[in-house]
Amino acid sequence: MANNDAELTYLQQQQRTRHQIEEGIISAFAPEDEGLRNALTSARAAGLPAIQISPIQGKLLQVLAAACNARNILEIGALGGYSGIWLARALPTGGRLITLEINPEHAAIVRNSFEKAGASDRAEVRVGKALDLLPHLESEAPFDLVFIDADKPPYPQYLEWALRLTRPGSIIIADNCIRGGKAFLPPQDEAMAGIVELNRRMASDPRLVSLVLAMDEDYTDGFAIAVVKH
Ligand code: SAH
Ligand code: DHB
Ligand code: MG
Repeated sequence: MANNDAELTYLQQQQRTRHQIEEGIISAFAPEDEGLRNALTSARAAGLPAIQISPIQGKLLQVLAAACNARNILEIGALGGYSGIWLARALPTGGRLITLEINPEHAAIVRNSFEKAGASDRAEVRVGKALDLLPHLESEAPFDLVFIDADKPPYPQYLEWALRLTRPGSIIIADNCIRGGKAFLPPQDEAMAGIVELNRRMASDPRLVSLVLAMDEDYTDGFAIAVVKH
């Protein structure tokens, strides 16, 4: 009992430390402005699930966009536009973000949030099933950065399209590639099967150099990041 209490206290302290670290990183490197906060408020008011990326992930998208000199960005899965605003803000003047969203109600919120965040001049949402829209993007390629964050079963197909629509030096990122460790176990459902297969391909494709990073959900989920090699 005494041991259990000590262990519990230790674990709680560790968790507080992790949260403090996260808050410290966010306030020093990734504070949200009015536009981002509005996107969250509008999404919540409309009853959208709060499954957007974290501020740290948003800032990492911006760092990666700068690293590949991104002028043309593709996102798959817009939700309420929160990640889209981070991405749009990484673009130089004349740059462009296309985000694909299957749900027209989500898309309406996205348009509104882009407008309020001052991103509508460079960010556009296209409504439809991503696998139907992706083949029409070939004329608008190459994309310098592709962010995959829609439904999970077709993750491997999204990676295939990302490879087709990018150039050497482009960066491909997929969210939710750890899932509390389930991404490294035999998959129990279609969603996990998609994630496991995307990780396998990202790790083994000779065209890519990649890594999965634990950064979200108390370091139990995060991005898979791949650079298309020269
Ligand atoms: N990237 C967003 C979160 C996306 S949540 C953010 O961080 O702010 C996933 C989104 O993908 C949802 O809005 C969902 O409607 C959309 N989606 C699900 N299946 C899709 C599909 N087949 N094609 C396009 N979008 C899809
Ligand atoms: C879910 C989807 C996401 O993209 C995410 O970041 C978290 C949760 C979901 O479908 O549950
Ligand atoms: Mg996600």
